[in-house]
Amino acid sequence: MDIEKIRRETPGLAHGIHLMASGSSLAPQPVIDAVMQFLELEARIGGYEAHAQQAEMLDGLYDSVARLIGAKRREIAILSNATAAWGQAFHALPLKAGDRIITCQAEYAANYVAFLQRQKRDGIEIDVVPNDESGAIDVAALEGLISEQTALIAITWVPTNGGLVNPAAAVGAIARKYDIPYLLDACQAVGQMPVDVGTLNCDFLSTTGRKFLRGPRGTGFLYLREKWLDSLEPAALDHFSAPLVDTTRYAVRDDARRFETWENSYALRAGLKVACDYAMDIGLEAIRQRAWGLTDLMREKLAMLPGCRIMDLGVEKCAIISFIIEGLDPQLTVEKLRSRGIAIGLSRPASSLLDAERRKLPVMQRISPHYFNNEADLDACIAALKELL
Ligand SMILES: Cc1ncc(COP(=O)(O)O)c(C=O)c1O
Repeated sequence: MDIEKIRRETPGLAHGIHLMASGSSLAPQPVIDAVMQFLELEARIGGYEAHAQQAEMLDGLYDSVARLIGAKRREIAILSNATAAWGQAFHALPLKAGDRIITCQAEYAANYVAFLQRQKRDGIEIDVVPNDESGAIDVAALEGLISEQTALIAITWVPTNGGLVNPAAAVGAIARKYDIPYLLDACQAVGQMPVDVGTLNCDFLSTTGRKFLRGPRGTGFLYLREKWLDSLEPAALDHFSAPLVDTTRYAVRDDARRFETWENSYALRAGLKVACDYAMDIGLEAIRQRAWGLTDLMREKLAMLPGCRIMDLGVEKCAIISFIIEGLDPQLTVEKLRSRGIAIGLSRPASSLLDAERRKLPVMQRISPHYFNNEADLDACIAALKELL
């Protein structure tokens, strides 16, 4: 990995230190150029005209996303964020009264709200798998929860509030064994490590563009295993997802784009395509090794600060650190570091309430180094934290 080139190509680094890839990362220059150039083209010749002129490039987005996660292009729908992508799959599933969903302690709050909505509306039941002693999903306990009524396994791979990496592929093996649909929230995983839907055995996978993938805000995508294209219809259709055949009938598209609608931001899509290609060119395993290595180092440095408690769960830990420093208010700390040009973040209990209640978590500090960071970035952050103590 040519880290100096990567840093030169990250214009945000000229303005400060960014340690928030799990919030919204710094985009590389080629991503920014793709968005800006598309907007300029639209301004110059018009939106529909720009779309027509760049149709081939825009169509290539589906190949780029498919390559990134080992899918087929017809299994990809481009959406505006991870929540929209996840919800498109979840709300399409024909769950009925008495059906049970298995989820995990680390489940993202938006997903859990959707479970509760369908509990209220459709009478489904929610089973939460206990964690093993490391704090990750207890895969044996998950298998033990499966019954005739289990209609979905829906888990979060990497939670919003820490470095835990849940055993997504082991869960997928169980889902396959019992032939239960498997919806994987990969929002915090894509872009920081290799992702392969074949190995994961998931039926649906959702993610966002702006985090570890370094794409533009307002982008995300859904993967939908090909076999579902025979049966799964979106909760809401339009004339793009299901063109009219005549005035009495429509025909649902035969690809995953049935989960899209007619109007989109093509400038952002151009940026998302470049972000996927950029990550693939560097290599997701190389990205993982560097980002996780820097994060391990940062955990060691933080642990030496007086009163600092690292809160990450799991044996295998990724590029997110959650921690508390006694005597420091997390919100004020974010603001004070921001005024020094250092971006770190927060993790609020409400974002992963099951886990927060179980562990009685307060608002925590969150840091997520990415591969474009270096040790000097980490040291500057540590020095700034020390000044606040
Ligand atoms: C685990 C997880 N899932 C889903 C989301 C939602 O992503 P988006 O904001 O793109 O909808 C987040 C965002 O922080 C997340 O951390």
